[in-house]
Amino acid sequence: MKETLKYLTGIAGPSGYGSKTTAHQISLDSLSPSIPPSLLTAIVTGATSGIGAETARVLAKRGVRVVIAAKDLAKAEKVKENIKKENKKAEIIILEIDLSSFASIHRFCDHFLSLGLPLHILINNAGKYSQKLEFSEDKIELTFATNYLGHFLLTEMLIEKMVKTASETGIQGRIVNVSSVIHNWVNPKTFCFTNLLTPKNYNGTQAYAQSKLANILHAKELSRQLKARKANVTINAVHPGIVKTGIIRDYRGFITDSLYFVASKLLKSTSQGAATTCYVALSPQIGGVSGKYFADCNETHCSAMANDVTLAWKLLNQSRALVNKRLLPLPLGTKT
Ligand SMILES: NC(=O)c1ccc[n+]([C@@H]2O[C@H](COP(=O)([O-])OP(=O)(O)OC[C@H]3O[C@@H](n4cnc5c(N)ncnc54)[C@H](OP(=O)(O)O)[C@@H]3O)[C@@H](O)[C@H]2O)c1
Repeated sequence: MKETLKYLTGIAGPSGYGSKTTAHQISLDSLSPSIPPSLLTAIVTGATSGIGAETARVLAKRGVRVVIAAKDLAKAEKVKENIKKENKKAEIIILEIDLSSFASIHRFCDHFLSLGLPLHILINNAGKYSQKLEFSEDKIELTFATNYLGHFLLTEMLIEKMVKTASETGIQGRIVNVSSVIHNWVNPKTFCFTNLLTPKNYNGTQAYAQSKLANILHAKELSRQLKARKANVTINAVHPGIVKTGIIRDYRGFITDSLYFVASKLLKSTSQGAATTCYVALSPQIGGVSGKYFADCNETHCSAMANDVTLAWKLLNQSRALVNKRLLPLPLGTKT
């Protein structure tokens, strides 16, 4: 009750921010004389619409070099144009990626690494909700492949670059996994790796919730591993709030029109929706904080399953085993 009231009124939490804080406000407050944003490079996935586009815009406006990792290059060009209209000097690089395809993620990483740029911030934001059971080209259920496994592989392939950048520049690397409060809805009985890859009884809401739970488990376990090797890179998960974006439109069959009307009173603006991501990516307040879950720009509780250390360890090991098996060197002459 107290939490709902806080959300509706926008009362600030311990960080000094609340549900009504905007990404712009966070970026202004996060300016640090010791780390000019112009020194930073960020990759934002899913930056062609909704929360990701706003995150990219705000970061670029502050002077961060932004790599838009996009499936639809025409949409990415439009986002770039809009950012440039606001800030002619903004440095935006567009690189193609389809997060549901291991081969495409490989191409993206090869391309990015060949540019020789540093990497300080990785925002794993892209997401999809699929009402019907669909499979990726790697024959994995599409929501899990896109929202979790794709970001897992992307992070695996870029983590050494981030660790190196942090050690060379002394600037802490930050990874943000965009999750959702819906991770609380996971049915523990269906959360087993093979079932996530090829579900027996598909339910779009469960599939989405499971992928969002996996985003938090990924952040928690990788954070433990990064701490163990004393790497100066943090990884946290966030719930952006409920925002009327592309993803919520796909949810219409699930939220009936009457419920949607009530829910609309609770929706955040896109700028408010991007605030927690920007807070976790930029704010000096949480330097060194890793393996945590944030909402409304404050650390908050996640579900018992999301806090299950064994489950997180198992998920990461199984994910590593799967991608290693699928990505064994391809026969000579194979086109990726
Ligand atoms: N909106 C909410 O209320 C809400 C609540 C909780 C969590 N979230 C999370 O917030 C994140 C951003 O969602 P949003 O609300 O901003 O949704 P959105 O407007 O639908 O944006 C999703 C983005 O992900 C991209 N994407 C989807 N599939 C992709 C793929 N295979 N490869 C590369 N990019 C892909 C989309 O690109 P295309 O347009 O080209 O497909 C788009 O740029 C998601 O992770 C979502 O789960 C949203």
